[in-house]
Amino acid sequence: MPGLSFMFSAATLILVLCLQLGIIEGQDTENTRKALTFNLSVPSRAQRNEEISLALELGTQYKECMVIKTYLVSSVPIEGGFNYVQTRCLCPDYPTTIYWDFIVTETATIAIVVDIVKERNICPNDVAVVPITGDRYHTIHTIYVN
Ligand SMILES: *[C@@H]1O[C@H](CO)[C@@H](O)[C@H](O)[C@H]1NC(C)=O
Repeated sequence: MPGLSFMFSAATLILVLCLQLGIIEGQDTENTRKALTFNLSVPSRAQRNEEISLALELGTQYKECMVIKTYLVSSVPIEGGFNYVQTRCLCPDYPTTIYWDFIVTETATIAIVVDIVKERNICPNDVAVVPITGDRYHTIHTIYVN
């Protein structure tokens, strides 16, 4: 029965191909691991002179820690806590949330910027990486003030 053995080896071949595809897909997921993942929490509307809170939750899909420097940039001047530059050590499995509290007086478009930097004495024993694919991330959000 040559047909049977042919079918059998074809089945084996398909199985092997599937396994290889599986491995390649696995590698693809590794390659698209993100240096930064984030969730932004900030109101879109506010009253004039209202104090609002902006919370930025940051995580990494990397297996290493990195030093991140975060700050806000506004289309109109905003005083106080808005201008704090916050530096943290971001490590796998330990998302961190960074807060800014500030008063808005007029509609503002805000850029939330995260730089991955080479700064010492932030991460334990300075064990941290900087991805060569890009070390600046930003997102834009508008707060409409009545
Ligand atoms: C953000 O939200 C998503 C969905 O709720 C969650 O999977 C993720 O862990 C959160 N944190 C970060 C830092 O991405």
